[in-house]
Amino acid sequence: METLDSPSGVQKLISSDKNILTVHPKYLISDEEQQSLKQVTILPYVPTIDLQELDGASRPQAIEKLNRACKEHGFFEVVNHGVSEHLMESMLEVAKEFFQMPEEDKMHLYSNDFRKRTFLSTSFNATKEDVLHWRDYLRHPCHPLEDHMESWPSKPPSYREITGKYATKIRELTLKLLEAISESLSLEKDHIAKALGDQNQSMQINVYPPCPQPDLTLGLGAHTDPNCLTIVQHDEVPGLQIMKDGSWFDVPSLDGAFFVNIGDQLQVISNGEYRSLVHRAITNSTKRRISIPTFYTPSFDAEIKPAPLLVARNDHVPLYVPFTYRQFLDHFYSRSLHTNTLQHFEVHAAN
Ligand code: OGA
Ligand code: NI
Repeated sequence: METLDSPSGVQKLISSDKNILTVHPKYLISDEEQQSLKQVTILPYVPTIDLQELDGASRPQAIEKLNRACKEHGFFEVVNHGVSEHLMESMLEVAKEFFQMPEEDKMHLYSNDFRKRTFLSTSFNATKEDVLHWRDYLRHPCHPLEDHMESWPSKPPSYREITGKYATKIRELTLKLLEAISESLSLEKDHIAKALGDQNQSMQINVYPPCPQPDLTLGLGAHTDPNCLTIVQHDEVPGLQIMKDGSWFDVPSLDGAFFVNIGDQLQVISNGEYRSLVHRAITNSTKRRISIPTFYTPSFDAEIKPAPLLVARNDHVPLYVPFTYRQFLDHFYSRSLHTNTLQHFEVHAAN
């Protein structure tokens, strides 16, 4: 089938194939995963963090709410976030335009090499996976803007300008959230930002094309994000699912809010008080879906370890050994998508 085979053995974008009637066998998920797609309910409650409350006199209550959201759910939506509706819409629009361009305008960015700064790819780790994900994506770093913008797509013509503005606003939002999250753990306000070193920020545009067999495939399998915090804009097509207490839930439409989820690095820094969220994306047979996550990450050389104060709070037992983010990523990218890179860095694993 067209989708998979090219002379170099790498996969081609699925979003370019217009008439796919059945999925290639490489996309077929396990029986167990197929079963799990049938047992999903809509999330009854999405914790909401109002950034204006965090900025005002009600900060202590808002911090308490944030603590509960992070501890009990691993995610929240953020409203009054300071990113204008217009900018959010423009970002989504230019993302759509990028993927709608003919292949010759974008395939020069195609790569399966995660060391590249800016790349367009498909699935998750297409050359290492047994089962492929029904997704194409564009990823690039965003901070500092001037170091990276040259590597971003030059088409559509407004891509760099809109994305630059969007990334700047998302960074402001994230820094506020990181301060509040530090505070919610009783840490110094700047603890997390400092722990991340020269913080990196990268952005991704995920495209999930209509899939002829949504019962047999996943847009993105169950995983936790390897970074610290993820801030996601979704379009109006549902598809994100989260796991809570062993069950899968559909995340309802967010209507102008951002979806924020905890990643593995925050689980480590919080010494397990906050847990990274297990989530996945499903496909559907009629509508293309776009999501735009921003990943906030440590610098590659930052040494990540549980905050000493939180270790003390846990009877002086650190749950994780210190590691550099580079070591973590090497491990993360050495396999297909999964939920347990952190296990490798648990204290007992090192003994
Ligand atoms: C991701 C991710 C979910 C979505 O890109 O890491 O989990 O809804 N995306 O696209
Ligand atoms: Ni994710």
